[in-house]
Amino acid sequence: MPQESMYAAVDIGTSKIISIVARLGPEGELKPLGTGVAPSNGVQQGIIDDFGEVKNSLQESLAECLRYVGRNPVDRYHVVVNGDHLVSANSTEMLGSGQEVVTITEQRLRSLISSTSGSLEQQLDTRSEQTLHMIPMRYRLDGMTGVRNPTGLDTNELQLEAHIVRGMSVPLGNTVRALQSCKAKVEGMIAHPLASAEGVLTADEREMGVIVADIGAGTIKTAIYREGTPVYSSVVPVGGNQLTRDMAVAMRVPYQMAEDLKIQFGHALPDAIPANEEVLIPATQVHPRRMVLRRELCEPLYLRSLQMLKLISEELYKAEIGAMPPGGIVLTGGACRMPGLAEMASRGLRTDVRVGGPLWYAGLPESLRQPEFSAVLGALQWAVKHRNRPDQERPRGSGERNWSPAALFRRPFARSGSRRAEEEPEFEDEQI
Ligand SMILES: Nc1ncnc2c1ncn2[C@@H]1O[C@H](COP(=O)(O)OP(=O)(O)OP(=O)(O)O)[C@@H](O)[C@H]1O
Ligand SMILES: [Mg+2]
Repeated sequence: MPQESMYAAVDIGTSKIISIVARLGPEGELKPLGTGVAPSNGVQQGIIDDFGEVKNSLQESLAECLRYVGRNPVDRYHVVVNGDHLVSANSTEMLGSGQEVVTITEQRLRSLISSTSGSLEQQLDTRSEQTLHMIPMRYRLDGMTGVRNPTGLDTNELQLEAHIVRGMSVPLGNTVRALQSCKAKVEGMIAHPLASAEGVLTADEREMGVIVADIGAGTIKTAIYREGTPVYSSVVPVGGNQLTRDMAVAMRVPYQMAEDLKIQFGHALPDAIPANEEVLIPATQVHPRRMVLRRELCEPLYLRSLQMLKLISEELYKAEIGAMPPGGIVLTGGACRMPGLAEMASRGLRTDVRVGGPLWYAGLPESLRQPEFSAVLGALQWAVKHRNRPDQERPRGSGERNWSPAALFRRPFARSGSRRAEEEPEFEDEQI
């Protein structure tokens, strides 16, 4: 089987490492050939903090995946990267200006984007930061704004408005080294918020405007789309693990027992549970087994879920978007499976809420249609779109004559938590 038709992705999550290999069929559809899921050790809030543990978990996940792939070894992966060091900003770049009118061809456009992206990269201290994505939003041609696709048009001056995502070089480098230590290479890196969005959003939602929030074990990844492109993306270091910890403390049980109780009986809205429903808490070293009201068990989940949804709503303000997008919110990631969470979000944020797993071509096994697979399957779809067409790459000295790239940053990059204090978002928790 030709290697060009094979695609592989891996998501080194806080709770599990998922790898997947798929083949691109003649109709452009991806067919999964193998998947591997291993518990993840050595990752905290989306960032590798124990190299040896991660290496073992990654090896287990890749070995399981490749077992199904048989005699078609794959060694290049698109990797989902995560952590609150990922930051995004929108900026306007001068792609080219010259004395003569030129016709923008697809090739010229690509090479201009590529060389501009390269010159931006040169402005960075690459020991500490690196650009992951430069995604075109709109173009401006000789003062004409809002152009979606300048290909085929004549112009003197071309500017690009782009969504740019950057991350810290050290954690990103550790991810690359983790794969290398398992004899695998990184073909591309995809920021988790955008990978989840790629996996879960419909074209209509992107066009209308929507927020996608992936609530994982250690992080909440948010991406906001408008008119078909991302305009904001971020990572906040809170997730489902915090819900489990709160329950463990409130019920005085070990963490793993709290995790099992959360999965089996958890509910974000205790009032929706029958008042007399009871749950058996197994014996621990300290307490004999006991019955508790399920409502009491879920009380800490209610409070923490409320806080997490407030964090998501704050992202709108950080993105400087005044109102909820018409497409509402799409929740994905494992923790959004908790009953009551979607209803809490819809009531509190007064918007439509959809809980989504990966959208896929026909033939995806039911076991992969779950919200925790959105990012890794999104990364595969991203890989198909971007192989041989990276959205950011180093300059290759493409110098179009009479056109000179220049970078004009309009808004500075801001790390998470930079929201101005006076812009308090509205969240209707009284109604919940
Ligand atoms: N039915 C369920 N009810 C409540 N929580 C659930 C359920 N199923 C899974 N979860 C939670 O989902 C989380 C795992 O989600 P996911 O696999 O998306 O995280 P991850 O990708 O490993 O983490 P991150 O993206 O933050 O690095 C865990 O906290 C788990 O407890
Ligand atoms: Mg995840």
